[in-house]
Amino acid sequence: MKLFDVYSLLDMEPVKAQGAYLWDKNGVEYLDFYGGHAVISIGHTHPHYVEKISEQLSKIGFYSNAVINSLQVELAEKLGELSGYDDYELFLCNSGAEANENALKLASFATGRERVLAMHGAFHGRTSLAVAISDNPAIQAPVNKTDKVSYIDLNNVEALQRELSSKEYAAVIVEPIQGVNGIRVASDEFMQAAREACDKTGTMLICDEVQAGYGRSGRFFSHQWSGIKADIISMAKGIANGFPVGAIMISPKIAAKKGMLGTTFGGSHLACAAAIAVADVVKSESLVENARVMGEKIVEGIKGVSGVEDIRGRGLMIGIDLSVPQADFRKVLREKHHIMTGLSGKYTLRLLPPLVIGEKEVVRFVEAFRATAAEMGM
Ligand SMILES: Cc1ncc(COP(=O)(O)O)c(C=O)c1O
Repeated sequence: MKLFDVYSLLDMEPVKAQGAYLWDKNGVEYLDFYGGHAVISIGHTHPHYVEKISEQLSKIGFYSNAVINSLQVELAEKLGELSGYDDYELFLCNSGAEANENALKLASFATGRERVLAMHGAFHGRTSLAVAISDNPAIQAPVNKTDKVSYIDLNNVEALQRELSSKEYAAVIVEPIQGVNGIRVASDEFMQAAREACDKTGTMLICDEVQAGYGRSGRFFSHQWSGIKADIISMAKGIANGFPVGAIMISPKIAAKKGMLGTTFGGSHLACAAAIAVADVVKSESLVENARVMGEKIVEGIKGVSGVEDIRGRGLMIGIDLSVPQADFRKVLREKHHIMTGLSGKYTLRLLPPLVIGEKEVVRFVEAFRATAAEMGM
């Protein structure tokens, strides 16, 4: 059997990884400024993570959500403490799309309403509701199309207020920093207006923190830069450093009912052990603060380089618009300087490194970036 051919693959196969570094099968070392698509938060194969997962696997890896699992309770307490949302409740699942799917269902259950307001440029995942609120017709199959979703431009406060005054929405869903769309930051004014309009109309504000959350932006959640609270927060990616875990945090104003949400695999012993280990390292190594400081240093280092047309982002979530196609630039970075990076569209480089990078990695990246720009005559 062959693989279903849906991915454009780079000619690189990592076989070993540690911290912010990868090695391919020929033993070539790469600096990882892609983090496996924003997933690697505490660095590859962190010793505490490896130890805790191995220890848990040798005890019990999985049973069922029909029995008590105190690791779930421990994880909820740790996430409450790290995020400042200790009065919220946690529901565990397996991916970012599933987290958003559950967030939308919950908003609809809680309000009794059907409509969702989403943002142009949004990406929320590939399950049926998640894809229906993602602004990309190419990934929506005919079965996903619905007239229950409206879109407005991110940061258009007037459109937000107009939509919320005229239609009954169950939820507004927003990535406080749009990732797939090239790192577009929602303004504080927009986030505050969304909070206010949702309060006035009884609409649920869902913040999709799947990519920007878990410390990557330099705050635990990226919407916390705007000084607001969401009603439901979806997360995945960095939460378990590569072990598939998704989650939503739910406001106390939404009441749980038996059976309204559920999953077989979500919140398994192994998944919780992985997520608890990550939470412990994020705290003990001050990774949220590190993401903020290192992000500022990267931006400082590449600001003003010829051929850089714009730099956007917060913390270690940085979008750089280039005057040349990103594919050509990334090829040189990867093949000559051995640095992995991400992308958005034709001209944007997306940086999503593990949150553990230090000065040494920043300097190596900045030097390689400058050298690449010069070599390409930008
Ligand atoms: C903001 C955002 N939401 C949701 C998702 C979907 O997450 P998953 O691929 O885990 O389903 C992604 C994935 O890139 C994302 O960036």
